[in-house]
Amino acid sequence: MNDAPPVTAAFDVQAIRAQFPILTETVRGRPLVFLDSAASAQKPRAVIEAMVHAMERQYANVHRGLHWMSERTTEAYEACRDAAARFLNAGSRDEIVLTRNSTEGINLVAHSYGRGVMRAGQAVLISEMEHHSNIVPWQMLRDAHGVELRVARVTEAGELDMDSVAAHLADGKVGLVAITHMSNVLGSYTPAERIVRLAHEAGARVLLDGSQAAVHRKVDVQALDADFYVFTGHKLYGPTGIGVLYGKAELLDRMPPFLGGGDMISTVSFERSEWARVPHKFEAGTPPILEGIGLKAAIEWVERIGFPAMEAHERALTDHALARLSAIEGVTVIGRAQDRGGVISFTLDRAHAHDVATLLDRQGIAVRAGHHCAEPLMRRFGLDSTARASFAAYTTRTEIDALAEALTRVRTFFA
Ligand code: ALA
Repeated sequence: MNDAPPVTAAFDVQAIRAQFPILTETVRGRPLVFLDSAASAQKPRAVIEAMVHAMERQYANVHRGLHWMSERTTEAYEACRDAAARFLNAGSRDEIVLTRNSTEGINLVAHSYGRGVMRAGQAVLISEMEHHSNIVPWQMLRDAHGVELRVARVTEAGELDMDSVAAHLADGKVGLVAITHMSNVLGSYTPAERIVRLAHEAGARVLLDGSQAAVHRKVDVQALDADFYVFTGHKLYGPTGIGVLYGKAELLDRMPPFLGGGDMISTVSFERSEWARVPHKFEAGTPPILEGIGLKAAIEWVERIGFPAMEAHERALTDHALARLSAIEGVTVIGRAQDRGGVISFTLDRAHAHDVATLLDRQGIAVRAGHHCAEPLMRRFGLDSTARASFAAYTTRTEIDALAEALTRVRTFFA
């Protein structure tokens, strides 16, 4: 799988920005400073045009028609699977299940691997820094199937406590470790390779939630030896409504289907049905055709820029933002992980995060505020909410400075 588009050598943030039509928009008469890309990233013209082109020139249902338009659309949609396989360095395109989002990928594994392969009495190990989407499906599995749910601790610095992971694995009862690859609140990366090694030594499989990590860092599922890996299209500069579940072929083969319906069967009678081969066994109904075409364009766009350049840019921005925010009296940055990406949660003394976000918004700056779908992590840090700034390939140092200056004004207001 070596047909990735060529990588550009230099990183020119203004040239990148010029590819995002929305970044020329103004908000209340000010240029948009969009620091909420961890919630959903903006879309480059390449993605928009690929989807518009499909709707205007090349659209029909896929996998069904024998006619020219259906065959061409099937090729265009299935090319997303090839792009995702290359992007994650999967061993085969059949290890790529196209889902609606990361949440659906995790639910699919919880349902099919959890109920179909795991035994009652086994445990699932998650961590304190999971998004609700990597907590709730395991609670549902626990309640329906009698597995135990264990939770590894997070340190004060916002890193996964590997002693806690090892302690939970020690009795050999954990069948699956389901852990984020990068926290959507703290920005911390987790030591994925080490987690996988420890888990495998203890006889457990591993699912990594790459919703954030896959946007910022090259992921190689074979080098990681991950059993399952999920990410979502809309955070990767692609459309909503499409996500990816990677699963090792031998596991996907053993798992029963998740949703039943058209496209996931080979034959149906009223007595019984037989399943289509993997990955189609997991893809019931008309798939997200346009979204798949958009995600392929997004993956190619990211590959053209290249992760080394993008990661270096985002690291420089994050270092700058940490320095600027920490210098503002009353601002506390939550989590100080050594290995971190461009997501920073913070609080401001005497101010609720929603008020901070509202006052920043009045100055044209978009950040997210709340519990970020990670209530247990908030409680771990004794908080009910934070404000969160998150960066992307199109974020500039000037925007970080604008955030720091606007936050200084907000602080004055509350002081
Ligand atoms: N999971 C997304 C976030 O962290 C929505 O904002």
